Amino acid sequence: MTADPQPPPAPVRGAEAVVLVGGRGVRLRPLTLSAPKPMLPTAGVPFLSHLLSRIRAAGIEHVVLGTSYKSEVFAEHFGDGADLGLEIEYVVEDEPLDTAGAIRNVADRLREPDVLVFNGDILCGVDLPELVRTHRDAAADVTLHLVRVADPRSFGCVPTDADGRVTAFLEKTDDPPVDQINAGCYVFRREVIEDIPAGRPVSVERETFPGLLASGARLQGYVDESYWLDLGTPAAFVRGSADLVRGIAPSDALPGAPGESLLLPGARVDADAVVDGGSTVGAGSVVEAGAAVHGSTLFDAARVAGEAVVERSVLGAGAEVGAGAVLRGAVIGDGARIGAGCELLDGARVWPGVELPPGGVRFSAD
Ligand code: GTP
Repeated sequence: MTADPQPPPAPVRGAEAVVLVGGRGVRLRPLTLSAPKPMLPTAGVPFLSHLLSRIRAAGIEHVVLGTSYKSEVFAEHFGDGADLGLEIEYVVEDEPLDTAGAIRNVADRLREPDVLVFNGDILCGVDLPELVRTHRDAAADVTLHLVRVADPRSFGCVPTDADGRVTAFLEKTDDPPVDQINAGCYVFRREVIEDIPAGRPVSVERETFPGLLASGARLQGYVDESYWLDLGTPAAFVRGSADLVRGIAPSDALPGAPGESLLLPGARVDADAVVDGGSTVGAGSVVEAGAAVHGSTLFDAARVAGEAVVERSVLGAGAEVGAGAVLRGAVIGDGARIGAGCELLDGARVWPGVELPPGGVRFSAD
């Protein structure tokens, strides 16, 4: 006897989405010198496409992007959103307003009672309809998605009481009292957004949430253990991209079936090369005989020469890795050339257009 198939989740009604995409992405330099973080190619499409696919899958159609850094590239790519079944609006900050300032800045575009707000660099599998339902059942002012992580020490943690109500926002410590952290996804009652001060930078984590808590507002936690990754660092970026390619991270925007590698149109991988671990080989990129590419992301028109090893690394558009070079945990900017035999280890970053001569430059940032 087979189990009855699960009915698809009911679409969320009476809610819309705001996605914050205005950050400079400093930790992901040099990749973010040419594109904002949410537009970096991730498993074959701009990272933001994965998040938008999840928003659409939840039945939400109206999306407002709060932009600042390199604001124009979002509209150039996504247009009015119709191709994705969405209605996308763009609001530009002349000066970055930080996270809550950016939310306040889009208030006049909002029209639904509940507003889902996302950090634009989060990859996660939270059940969005359930998050909204929790918010409504609790009649909360704001509901925060809180995710349980194995090692909460590098995050501020957010304890909740027996009713799921947030009791504090705690700074990072070596001995956190709970393992649940702010996952960067919230539901706001729309009126709460209108109360955020306008026209100046405001941080949602440092000012808005602690202020609401102190004033007695109802802040609800929705705790789960779904897939969650903040793609803020190079290491997280390559991991998130590989998890998308392998189908570990949820997305409806993956171009193709999940697998060990994703080869975009025009990519060429020699029969004697290995590409695995969720690697993406961008359009027109080449991996030559004897080379090995593990868990890495190659943007378009990159080249990995024979016998080179590229592991947990990102190669920007047009970047080249010479024969026999070894890259582990490295980030190579657009058009940079790594000479034959060089060794670049964890944390190494090469700026766009830089050429490292052949002959074994060895570099580790650690
Ligand atoms: P780093 O510079 O590496 O810290 O990255 P970031 O600038 O993206 O900052 P952070 O990861 O803390 O930002 C979390 C989310 O908020 C990201 O999706 C950012 O794009 C977004 N964000 C941060 N600051 C602003 C801002 O001033 N305006 C807008 N619209 N979005 C912002």
